Amino acid sequence: MSSFFQSLTRKLPGQGGTSQGVGAFGRWARRARRRFGRERALEVVAGWGRRAEERLGRRIAYEPELIPPIRLMRTEGMDVLEEWFRWAEEWSMLLRIYGQIRRDSQVLEVGCGLGRVAFPLRYVLSREGAFHGLEICREKVEFLQQTFPKAHPNFHFQHADIHNTFYNPGGTIRPEHYRFPHEDASFDLIFAASVFTHLLPAAAEQYIREASRVLRPEGRCVFSFFLLDNYRPGQPRPQGFNDRIFNVDHPHGNHGDDFAVSDPGNPEAITAYRLAFIERMAAQAGLRLAQPPVPGLWSGSSPTWVGMQDVVVLVKAPANEA
Ligand SMILES: C[S@@+](CC[C@H](N)C(=O)[O-])C[C@H]1O[C@@H](n2cnc3c(N)ncnc32)[C@H](O)[C@@H]1O
Repeated sequence: MSSFFQSLTRKLPGQGGTSQGVGAFGRWARRARRRFGRERALEVVAGWGRRAEERLGRRIAYEPELIPPIRLMRTEGMDVLEEWFRWAEEWSMLLRIYGQIRRDSQVLEVGCGLGRVAFPLRYVLSREGAFHGLEICREKVEFLQQTFPKAHPNFHFQHADIHNTFYNPGGTIRPEHYRFPHEDASFDLIFAASVFTHLLPAAAEQYIREASRVLRPEGRCVFSFFLLDNYRPGQPRPQGFNDRIFNVDHPHGNHGDDFAVSDPGNPEAITAYRLAFIERMAAQAGLRLAQPPVPGLWSGSSPTWVGMQDVVVLVKAPANEA
């Protein structure tokens, strides 16, 4: 039952017995219970509660229509609106510092979800810049296409029905065969926020190759990972990362200790890579590390951290070195 409904039907101080509800609502609830029976009355009210929760995002002052309903946010593990903003601003900062985003950058986000990072980029990019988001969940792309381009015509969102055991188990395209729908050398910056954390190595290799193809010389990639280099099995991890879904204890495929998953039955739920493996895939694609990886909070291994996940920054060689 929705928390909204629970708050409406909370017991008033001093009231015993069954929940009485508040004021007019309480009187309505008692009448409805007598007339339709308890279960049906609860169902109706829970429906109201869900709709009211979905409207919560509408209380935001600035472009509230770009905030997805809570129901969609929950598909990405967000339960509170504040988490939407916190992660969005974290990535805005990562792209400004490590991605060297400019106002006129041409930007590609792989796995753009509900547009959480596009959200702050709308006040980073000018109309000379452009944002292209690729996403495998149709519902998310439909939401974005209905909302974003009206106010921000330089923001584009595209769906690709790619298979992922966690996010799109019915997908028809294998990620390891997917070619990004973009021309060679068309982007200054490509990023993936918590997407390689759901990819198997064959897909990661293809995505890094494709990223290099569509990146301009000297362009950058900012990709987040769970780096096995920072993972200590059994070590307590901060906050929600202590959940066992982040226990990346299972080597998967023929990659030795370069790659692991947390759930062999649903391997793309959480994946983790060793940095040397990423560097090899990047080198084969014509990319190199721009700097040492930026440690994230998740592993609990670094006394300092910047964002939630580890961030790998790759750069493409200048045209005269290619
Ligand atoms: C944790 S969510 C992050 C979404 C978004 N990047 C953000 O920061 O809000 C991971 C996203 O990656 C998408 N995804 C999973 N596998 C993918 C693939 N093979 N190609 C592109 N996107 C993928 C999922 O559908 C999901 O929206």
